Amino acid sequence: GESQSFYDAVGGEETFRRLVHHFYQGVAADPVLRPLYPEDDLDGAEERLRLFLIQYWGGPSTYSAQRGHPRLRMRHNPFVIRSVEHDAWLRHMHDAVLSLKLPEDLEKRLWDYLVYAASSMINAPDA
Ligand code: HEM
Repeated sequence: GESQSFYDAVGGEETFRRLVHHFYQGVAADPVLRPLYPEDDLDGAEERLRLFLIQYWGGPSTYSAQRGHPRLRMRHNPFVIRSVEHDAWLRHMHDAVLSLKLPEDLEKRLWDYLVYAASSMINAPDA
């Protein structure tokens, strides 16, 4: 119906679980990105991103219950994010989005948001 959230429209938790799991499989094998993440805790990072995206798109607000206000740019300050990190992140996310095989309009909405959000996370100039 008209009042259905994007979260429900794309298939709810299961869809975000698949998206983020696919993404982190890419990160786990990426020589640029893997060193940025906790050595022994990619599962924790996977859960945080999944809960954030679920909340952002209108699902349960478990993310903020556990982590507080997202303040994503601030939370990324400890990591150097230049275009090389940005491009690697988005490339894995693109693979993950395509793997969902969503209807085109929903896929575009999700992808456009991720492109915008990723560009806003760049916090260091290219060398
Ligand atoms: C956390 C890297 C973009 C959402 C993290 C972490 C790293 C990272 C290294 C710490 C992992 C952890 O949680 O232990 C990057 C890089 C990006 C990027 C290199 C390239 C542009 C984004 C974007 C979003 C996002 C676009 C949102 C759409 C998050 C969230 C967390 C996180 C929700 C967990 C924050 C927390 O609660 O502590 N990111 N990220 N990231 N990232 Fe990103």
